[in-house]
Amino acid sequence: MIDFLLFLLSFLHFFSVVTSQVRSSYSGGSGEWQLLHQSVGISAMHMQLLRNDKVIIFDRTDFGPSNLSLPDGICRVDNSDTVLQTDCTAHSILYDINTNAFRPLMIQTDTWCSSGAVLPNGTLVQTGGFNDGDRNIRSFTPCRDDEYCDWIEFPWSLIQRRWYATNQVLPDGRIIIVGGRRQFNYEFYPSSSSEVIWLNFLTETNDQGMENNLYPFLHLLPDGNLFIFANTRSILLDYNQNRVIKVFPRIPGDDPRNYPSTGSSVLLPLDESNSVIEPEIMVCGGAPRASFTQATQGNFIRAISTCGRLKVLDPNPSWTMEDMPLARVMGDMILLPNGDVLIINGAELGTAGWELGRSPVTQPIIYRPSTDVSDWRFAIMSPSTRPRMYHSSAILLTDGRILVSGSNPHVNYNFTNVEYPTDLSMESYSPPYLSPEYDQIRPRILSVDEKIGYGGKLFSPTFQVQVYLTTNALSVSIVAPSFATHSFSMNQRMVSLKIVGVTGLSPYTYGLTVAGPSTAEIAPPGYYLLFVVHAHVPSQGMWVKIE
Ligand SMILES: *[C@@H]1O[C@H](CO)[C@@H](O)[C@H](O)[C@H]1NC(C)=O
Ligand SMILES: *[C@@H]1O[C@H](CO)[C@@H](O)[C@H](O)[C@H]1NC(C)=O
Ligand SMILES: *[C@@H]1O[C@H](CO)[C@@H](O)[C@H](O)[C@H]1NC(C)=O
Repeated sequence: MIDFLLFLLSFLHFFSVVTSQVRSSYSGGSGEWQLLHQSVGISAMHMQLLRNDKVIIFDRTDFGPSNLSLPDGICRVDNSDTVLQTDCTAHSILYDINTNAFRPLMIQTDTWCSSGAVLPNGTLVQTGGFNDGDRNIRSFTPCRDDEYCDWIEFPWSLIQRRWYATNQVLPDGRIIIVGGRRQFNYEFYPSSSSEVIWLNFLTETNDQGMENNLYPFLHLLPDGNLFIFANTRSILLDYNQNRVIKVFPRIPGDDPRNYPSTGSSVLLPLDESNSVIEPEIMVCGGAPRASFTQATQGNFIRAISTCGRLKVLDPNPSWTMEDMPLARVMGDMILLPNGDVLIINGAELGTAGWELGRSPVTQPIIYRPSTDVSDWRFAIMSPSTRPRMYHSSAILLTDGRILVSGSNPHVNYNFTNVEYPTDLSMESYSPPYLSPEYDQIRPRILSVDEKIGYGGKLFSPTFQVQVYLTTNALSVSIVAPSFATHSFSMNQRMVSLKIVGVTGLSPYTYGLTVAGPSTAEIAPPGYYLLFVVHAHVPSQGMWVKIE
């Protein structure tokens, strides 16, 4: 024990200097953009990373042909398609992160503005859409060879049509599906009932003619209840009893944050090393209430520049507001492996919806949530050269990059004589932590258990860094890969796990003892990316299964 303490102390002594240097230079970095494909053939309206490092991407079937043919001359024949009844093009692809290759997939019915979530066993369940697809469920299971697996369609499987709904995985492995256009209710997958459950909150937050409450922001809290934010309001829902157990104050400013006034939201990282976890919700950007109507008349109003933070389990919660350096509507919020929040894509003027956004915001910003260790809150990053407007998306990849694709504010694909032509390109954005200047302090995971249990059950990842370790700047996080669409990442979740011990195994190689998540309310079962983070610099992620 004494040896162990001396061992730790020697590290603290040697490397406090390294840590402070890292922080100041890190805050100055601004990341890098890389063009991965000029065209992937479709515009990425929806994206989900799967546990085999493949990303499933899809948009909608009813805008005519895409720029990617289905394989072997096959065509989809769909008499209810409003544009093209015999369509030989793909509306979904499977992208391989490691080879940068992609192949077309076959969707049978319309997935436009739909939702999804990955089951604990790794199968993606996608729900709803429009027209002939609005009550369908589709699944995609990553297959071993990945050459032939494709979407499987389950017609008429939802109790109600779901268009602009939001999904969240629950502690028991079910998925809750909330709202959607003209749906003031919720249901579950799998469902044990033929009835939906009415939710008054969704009628109350529905602005006549504009809605402003579609794609509600859902966050599962550590007490097992569901936080729902729509328009300017939020509640805590006990979905088992259908009881609203708490009504939170409206977000200050009376500006709506949900579609079409699309802002975004995250549950800030949950920290298991605290004796009491204090869940905190963050909501950023959106568009003022008049924005949609004004934009349809050609007046593009400036988006919202504020973010609000709410400690939801406080006895008297109240919003803390902060100003972003850039106003933004349709910004995606992504939890980075080091606990920072990236806000990326979107526009400065107008709203979501066909032709209603202007003035792209091409610079991502990074927000650092913790006040105690940092001298900055928001940092402006390098711009992309491509506008990512309505129907673009962004997700975190295994290696810590962000995959960015899509943008199509037009009813059909339109490449000419329009502002913001349909964008089929795919880029990655590498946050500053990926810069080679941090390679020496970057952890490299050597091994980790594939399965991690609940109740703080211990497990032992090992890793290397090229310098001595600053143990007080070390953390281990698990990140749930999310379903991204319309600027909201469904099911996004990061849990910082409790480190019980650090041992030196050989020079620059370390063994950790880490406690798994306490409960399934903190981390619902399923596949997560595990990152070891050193002085804000993350390792590559390794897939683990929490069960
Ligand atoms: C997509 O196909 C259309 C029609 O063939 C063509 O005009 C356009 O340039 C293509 N766009 C891209 C990005 O490949
Ligand atoms: C996961 O469960 C679903 C629903 O029971 C099933 O359809 C799917 O095949 C399962 N996936 C795997 C990988 O076992
Ligand atoms: C693209 O948009 C322009 C301007 O609205 C319109 O004239 C044109 O017909 C559209 N093209 C397609 C392929 O929809």
